[in-house]
Amino acid sequence: MKLTFVGNGAMAKAMIEGLVNSYEIEVIGKDMDKLRALNAVFEGKLSLGLLQEGVDATGKTLILCVKPHALEAVAPHFRGEAHGLISVLAGTPLHALQKAFTCKHFIRAMPNLAAAHRASMTLLTGDVAFQETAQHLLQSIGKTHWLGTEKEFDIAMALTGSGPAFLALVAEALCDGVVREGLKREDATLLVRGLFEGFAPLLRANHPALIKEAVMSPGGVTAAGLGVLEERGVRSAFMETMKKTYEKTLK
Ligand SMILES: NC(=O)c1ccc[n+]([C@@H]2O[C@H](COP(=O)([O-])OP(=O)(O)OC[C@H]3O[C@@H](n4cnc5c(N)ncnc54)[C@H](OP(=O)(O)O)[C@@H]3O)[C@@H](O)[C@H]2O)c1
Repeated sequence: MKLTFVGNGAMAKAMIEGLVNSYEIEVIGKDMDKLRALNAVFEGKLSLGLLQEGVDATGKTLILCVKPHALEAVAPHFRGEAHGLISVLAGTPLHALQKAFTCKHFIRAMPNLAAAHRASMTLLTGDVAFQETAQHLLQSIGKTHWLGTEKEFDIAMALTGSGPAFLALVAEALCDGVVREGLKREDATLLVRGLFEGFAPLLRANHPALIKEAVMSPGGVTAAGLGVLEERGVRSAFMETMKKTYEKTLK
């Protein structure tokens, strides 16, 4: 299968890295110097095309990786009916893609920041007839999860799309706390990285409630700390955070 990437930025590069040895890849962009620079990274394995020269999309699989605001400027350069279109454009619903492009199968995907490390938790929704292909392609940047409706997709985005920012705040606050008590900043940073790395396999293997119970011995130090989190409403703050983040995607 030949893949046509539209856009030559960070997300396109991360995906191409995982796909270049298995697929023939064409990249369409608006700046030939940037396209050539990207091709040099992949030792000349890509074929390149300029958007301004027009693109025959007939039968192609397009992976749309431009900025969301560029959709209307980019779409008119395509002619013919594409086979499949996978869009990673944040906040761009399926109906907007269907209005802009002529294509058999439309898919919306939402990777997160970890895509650069091929560790994204990527959400997908859209035409089930193209689900298997889309999931396989997005696995080039990490794990994927299919959601049956666009509403669920938008809700889930609050967790996986914005999640890195919320977890970054937790990591930073934990560090600030131990620095306030007298630990050196570099020690705190190193330890919080180790904490998150160790937590990933724990969470993979256990329900969160069981992890908490395993550490929380009666009348112990963890119980004292958890008491503060509950008193200060951290749990309900996170629930409200998900609500506000989801509501904002609808505006
Ligand atoms: N990076 C992430 O972790 C992440 C996560 C979730 C979703 N996304 C989505 O992925 C998409 C791409 O993001 P990115 O991080 O790859 O951004 P990026 O590195 O800034 O790349 C954006 C690409 O869009 C092109 N572009 C911008 N305006 C254009 C226009 N008017 N006409 C044609 N091309 C245009 C740029 O071309 P030039 O370089 O020539 O200007 C560039 O190739 C976005 O829609 C974003 O919402 C990214």
